[in-house]
Amino acid sequence: MKYLRWDETLFKDETVFDPDYLPEVLLHRDKQLTALAANLRPALRNSTPIHTLLFGPPATGKTSAMRTILNEISDYAYTAYIRCPLARSAYKVMARIFERVCKHQPPQTGISITRLYDSICQKLADDGKALIVAFDDFNFLDDDAANDILYTLLKAHEEYSVKIGIVAATTERVMLDMKTGAIFHPDEIYFPLYDEEEIRSILMQRVELGFYEGAMTDEAFDKIVELTTKVCDLRFGIYLLRMAGIEAERRASRKVEVEDVEKVYEGGAKVFLAKSISALNSDERETLKIIYSIKGDVNSGEVYKILKAEVNMSYTRFYEIINKLERLRLIDIVMGRKGRGRTRYIIKKYNADVVMAALEH
Ligand SMILES: Nc1ncnc2c1ncn2[C@@H]1O[C@H](COP(=O)(O)OP(=O)(O)OP(=O)(O)O)[C@@H](O)[C@H]1O
Ligand SMILES: [Mg+2]
Repeated sequence: MKYLRWDETLFKDETVFDPDYLPEVLLHRDKQLTALAANLRPALRNSTPIHTLLFGPPATGKTSAMRTILNEISDYAYTAYIRCPLARSAYKVMARIFERVCKHQPPQTGISITRLYDSICQKLADDGKALIVAFDDFNFLDDDAANDILYTLLKAHEEYSVKIGIVAATTERVMLDMKTGAIFHPDEIYFPLYDEEEIRSILMQRVELGFYEGAMTDEAFDKIVELTTKVCDLRFGIYLLRMAGIEAERRASRKVEVEDVEKVYEGGAKVFLAKSISALNSDERETLKIIYSIKGDVNSGEVYKILKAEVNMSYTRFYEIINKLERLRLIDIVMGRKGRGRTRYIIKKYNADVVMAALEH
């Protein structure tokens, strides 16, 4: 082979950089793991678990914590892990739970959601086991579906004597209707953003698992930590580790250097931005564009003035947009003093050229 020399790789184990790789040890998440385990522990004795909401910004370990505890519990209770973006209707969710509990696929047609549910409860009662249903990215379920499925599942213990616990991970609050809200009071576990030292130790753990010793220079690693801290997104850091490794291999170097990180940063940021930007409507894009076209410090009043001249928008709506851009981590908002009053300052998180290029697409 001329181009692919497998013997010269810098990677000891490249799979540790896969998006769905689950580390054996989740650093800095002891508190959250312990709390979740305590809430679900009743399932081991076939009593009702405490419903739990895992709440926090993207890439703070919600999915990883959920999967870690589900893995541990799955020897003692039934577990169904639902990726909500892939199963948006109540029927699809119920079909997925059926598959996990009854160990076969539901018939393709002609079976109602109630019949599926009856079979699930029958099996739980026969086996005397509890069921944990874990909804990941819960905010992706349609509102009706969320209400429907929760209501049906939570009514279970009244109609049948079965024990069902709900865990939901979400970055946004989900509005439930009164009927469902009245019976679903989850305990909330918060997942805060990682600070720089935490990011450093988590990325170091991946380097040790993924690269051969000495393959990552200190300078390149520091640069990755710096870039990751700036955008506060561990996924971006893990992506940079891998891509910089591939770049170093491409130029046949035995070490990853700062130049490799710089080379892959722009492309990487674009990919990450493209994803967040695709979730924006045209007003939100316009706001982002104005923010990034102003040089230096930006205060929110200034942005609103420019925006209002272009599109007719109320201040309340503008305020919502700014908050959404912050949630998606495209900007930071800090409060500052200006003259007599307090002003919101907007801090840009990315290089302006990179954001503009991503907005073009
Ligand atoms: N404490 C941690 N230790 C090691 N790796 C972690 C930790 N927290 C997160 N990660 C890694 O960071 C990435 C994102 O984590 P995860 O998917 O669990 O976040 P999330 O909170 O579910 O994000 P989202 O809200 O976007 O779904 C994954 O690759 C995961 O392995
Ligand atoms: Mg997740």
